Amino acid sequence: MAEIIYRPRRNRRTRAMRDLVAETGLSPQHLVQPLFVVPGSGVERPIEALAGQRHLSPDRAAHLAKAIHAAGVPAVLLFGIPPEKDAMGTYAAREDAPVQEAVRRIKDAVPELVVICDLCLCEYTDHGHCGVLRGDGSVDNDATLPLLAQAAVSQVEAGADVVAPSDMMDGRVGALRAALDQTGYQETAILSYAVKYRSAFYGPFREAAGSAPREGDRSTYQMDFRNRREAVREAQLDVAEGADMLLVKPGLPYLDVLQQVREATHLPVGAYHVSGEYAMLEAAASRGLIDRDMAVTESLYAMRRAGADFIATYYALEWAQRGLCR
Ligand code: PBG
Repeated sequence: MAEIIYRPRRNRRTRAMRDLVAETGLSPQHLVQPLFVVPGSGVERPIEALAGQRHLSPDRAAHLAKAIHAAGVPAVLLFGIPPEKDAMGTYAAREDAPVQEAVRRIKDAVPELVVICDLCLCEYTDHGHCGVLRGDGSVDNDATLPLLAQAAVSQVEAGADVVAPSDMMDGRVGALRAALDQTGYQETAILSYAVKYRSAFYGPFREAAGSAPREGDRSTYQMDFRNRREAVREAQLDVAEGADMLLVKPGLPYLDVLQQVREATHLPVGAYHVSGEYAMLEAAASRGLIDRDMAVTESLYAMRRAGADFIATYYALEWAQRGLCR
C-alpha cells in the first residue's frame, strides 16, 4: 500500500473555504472599549499619547456609549481622572467623581451596555502609586484594601455592573468580595486583573491618566516579566478569593501566559491590549511601515487564538464599526 502523505492543500483554498475551517473567530462581541473620563461637561479632548482616543466628560462618555453599543461592542471599561489628587486617593470613592457620574449617565442612556469600572488608586493619588504609602515611601498593601473596597462600593452604587481591580494588592479580590456582599451587592461581578506585569507598555496610558509614579516604580506589586508559573499562582489565588473573570495584561507580549492561564482555569479570561501596544501599531502604521488594518486584526486574532474570551482594546469601537473583526 502506498504511503499516505498529508498535504495542506492551501493552494486551492478559496476565501469561503478558509472561513469554513478557520479555528478562531473575532467579532464585536469579544471586545471591550476602554474610556477615559474627565470632570466637566461637553469635554471631548484628544489624548496626545493615544492618538484617536479622547478624554471625555461623563455626558460625552454616555453619548459615545450609545455608538459603542450600536456597533455591537457589549462593554466599556472606565478610567477616571479626578479634579484633584491626594495621598489617599480620596476621589476614587466619591459619589461625585467623574467615573461615578459617567456610570450613572451611561446606564441611563444605554442600560444594556455592560459597564466595567477599573478600580485602582493610581489615577487618584498625588504620588501615582496604586496603593497608599507608608512614611518610608513603600506601598502599604493592607491599608489600601479598605480604600479599594470603599471605591468599589461607590462604583457599584452608581450602577457599575462589574468592578475590575487593577492595583495588584495582595488579597484585594477577597476584600472586595466581602465588601460587596456586606453592602448587598452579592450579584456584582469582579473582573480581576489577576495577571498584570510591570511593563513599559503602559507608558501612553500613564500620560493619559496622569498616573505615572512620582518616585520609584511598580515592581513591588506588579509581576516580574521573567515569570510565567507565578501567573498561574496569581490566577488561582484570585479564583479562590472569588473572582468571576480574569484578565491578563499586557496582551501580545504575554500570549504564552495568556494561554497557560486559559488552561489553568475555567473562568472567563480576557486580554488587555494595552496603550503601548496600540501606540506601537499606530506609530508604525503612520510611517507606512505596516498595513494598519491587517496588523491590528492579526493582533486581535492572536490574543483570541491564545485563549482570550474577550479583549480590552482601544480599537474596539473602530474595529466593530468598520466591520473589520470578521
Ligand atoms: C491602573 C491601570 C494601568 C493600566 C490599566 N489600569 C496603568 C498601570 O498599571 O500603570 C494600563 C492600561 C494601558 O496601558 O492601556 N493601575
